[in-house]
Amino acid sequence: MRELSLHILDIVQNSIAAEASRIEIEIQEDPAADRLWFEIRDDGCGMDEETLAKVTDPFFTTRTTRKVGLGIPLLKFMAMDCDGNVEIESVPKKGTRIKASMQRSHIDRPPLGNMADTMLTLITGSDSIDYVYHHGIGDRSFDFSTAEMREILGETSFRDPEVTAWLRGFLNEGENALDEEADS
Ligand SMILES: Nc1ncnc2c1ncn2[C@@H]1O[C@H](COP(=O)(O)OP(=O)(O)OP(=O)(O)O)[C@@H](O)[C@H]1O
Ligand SMILES: [Mg+2]
Repeated sequence: MRELSLHILDIVQNSIAAEASRIEIEIQEDPAADRLWFEIRDDGCGMDEETLAKVTDPFFTTRTTRKVGLGIPLLKFMAMDCDGNVEIESVPKKGTRIKASMQRSHIDRPPLGNMADTMLTLITGSDSIDYVYHHGIGDRSFDFSTAEMREILGETSFRDPEVTAWLRGFLNEGENALDEEADS
């Protein structure tokens, strides 16, 4: 995958398939230490030990439509290519935590990609999942939670065109401000 945001989308899709109702996405870039890591935490169905042990094996999947599950193995290969690794913790009926870390300046490190678009796709994809988001660069960050937004929105859906348009602006502004600060 050419962008980290595509890996993140893929890992979050596992959380959605696991019927999570709350998904936390944390991205932290540390220019001083030259590290970048992201972590996805969900409260979905989790995995038993046997599944967990097999999850980084590309020939394991619980899907029935296709034999090979590639989301986590691809993430692991990418992270390892970039002097990093992937940690997974999972508790059945409680949830799952997946953390990928890497060297930020590594020549093979894919660009982050468009996290504003990625979050817009996820948030407008379901009104029954709460997202908690953190993207930090050094000591600056862009943070939000959809539960807090819902308190203001009331019954209005994130799919309502006016709400979607507002959300797109909010996400782009948050991510762009972070980039500009990081560059200066
Ligand atoms: N967050 C999660 N909660 C519960 N089970 C998970 C979670 N993430 C992964 N799994 C389990 O690990 C398996 C492998 O995941 P992986 O993303 O590598 O492949 P996949 O989702 O099966 O297929 P693909 O991602 O290629 O569409 C899944 O089929 C699922 O059983
Ligand atoms: Mg998957």
